[in-house]
Amino acid sequence: METDIVVIGGGSGGYAAALRAAELGKRVMIIERDKVGGTCLHRGCVPTKALLHVAETADSVREATSLGVLADLQGFDVPRMHAFREGIVAKKYKGLEGLLRARGVETVIAEGTVVAPGRVRAGDVEITASDIIVATGAQTRTLPGVEISGRVLSSEQALALDEIPGSVIVLGGGVIGVEFASLWRSLGAEVTIVEALDHLVPTEDDALRTQLARAFRKRGIQTRLGARFASVAQTDTGVTVALEGGDELHADYLLVAVGRAPVTAGLGLEDAGVQIDRGFIVTDADLRTTAPGIWAVGDVVAGPQLAHRGFQHGIQVAERIAGQHPVPVSDELVPRVVYTSPELASVGLTRAQAVERFGEDGIAVVDYNLAGNARTEIIGGSGTARVIRRVDGPVIGVHLAGPRVGELISEAQLVVGWDAHPEDIAPFIHAHPTQSEALGEAFLALAGKPLHVL
Ligand code: NAI
Repeated sequence: METDIVVIGGGSGGYAAALRAAELGKRVMIIERDKVGGTCLHRGCVPTKALLHVAETADSVREATSLGVLADLQGFDVPRMHAFREGIVAKKYKGLEGLLRARGVETVIAEGTVVAPGRVRAGDVEITASDIIVATGAQTRTLPGVEISGRVLSSEQALALDEIPGSVIVLGGGVIGVEFASLWRSLGAEVTIVEALDHLVPTEDDALRTQLARAFRKRGIQTRLGARFASVAQTDTGVTVALEGGDELHADYLLVAVGRAPVTAGLGLEDAGVQIDRGFIVTDADLRTTAPGIWAVGDVVAGPQLAHRGFQHGIQVAERIAGQHPVPVSDELVPRVVYTSPELASVGLTRAQAVERFGEDGIAVVDYNLAGNARTEIIGGSGTARVIRRVDGPVIGVHLAGPRVGELISEAQLVVGWDAHPEDIAPFIHAHPTQSEALGEAFLALAGKPLHVL
């Protein structure tokens, strides 16, 4: 068989590359061992956000009476909850398959391996192509001696759990850890997060870490920070987690959320001349690997493991192969959203990174308290908007915590991505009352002319 481009892996990065390349007139084939849509659609972003919407609805019912809506949270119908989640995924999956078909992208369900530059094997079939795009993604990482089985879960099993656990220990206070902790707590479980570092979501700005820690404390989520995991034992009814230092924790389940490792082994990459470093594929800014005509996109390339970074990688590579000169994806400009209650959203440099790069005197920071925002008050919640600029220079970081703030990050992304100065943004009007006004207020303050704050 022969085509122009073979994409190995039909997840966010791979299918975006295929769609864009087809749009640019290329013949494209995706080799996918499971289902197009990958982790994000089937086991990650989409189904977890569906369950987090269930959690938010439960919290709304709990608060309803205080708003004058007489409602009682009577419990949960777990099969129906999962039917809702599966229904969303099924619809998006069908839509994606249809889109690929309509663009003329051929999908082969098989295990793909690289034979050599320009040659790929899909099961028993060999395909030649002028370009190969590796988009095989990432998979759950675990710790030595910790096997994912029975009551020791990865996010994939946690997602499909057929009961609401009475209690859970979450190992790792990164993004997966805090999202599941938030979900299970809203569903009524006792949750303890064990995190090796001194903070939850340790890579986020300290303003967001503080907001999340405070909110989780109020919600009754327990945290063991700076705690070193030693071992886990399980019985038919529960797990016992031992920490270094001798403490033991007991719960119905353990969720292991200590990161995700790139899937690059066994694909024939190194033999084909692709350099790999600690599991990740080494690329240049164009996402070209060290082997001719082989490119890499998404989680196999070191950097933030986010679906939307994968999409943009895919678009970039498709356009580059088609002879265009797309702007390379900047990892610093990839927006991040954590769908906990409260949500966290950020783009650009954290305060610590900004200080490291420009010095304390080289930056200015404004923290706007969302308590001053009418819409936030109405929908219930609290939070913060931290904006960071270079002195007399552009906005370089935006960090938000609060209800639904994930939807606000698009404006922040344009501001940071376009190197806008707060003075440039000040004349733009934010509708009242919206949560977006909080950003407007923060930018006004950063420009030295705050309106509703002192
Ligand atoms: P992560 O890298 O975000 O967090 C892992 C956490 O585990 C870190 O805080 C780390 O310090 C901690 N840890 C590592 N070893 C430990 C040990 N032995 N004991 C205690 N703590 C330990 O990885 P996570 O949460 O598994 O997520 C994987 C990827 O998926 C991330 O890159 C994340 O960005 C992505 N993701 C993104 C989401 C979003 O954008 N909303 C949602 C879920 C996942």
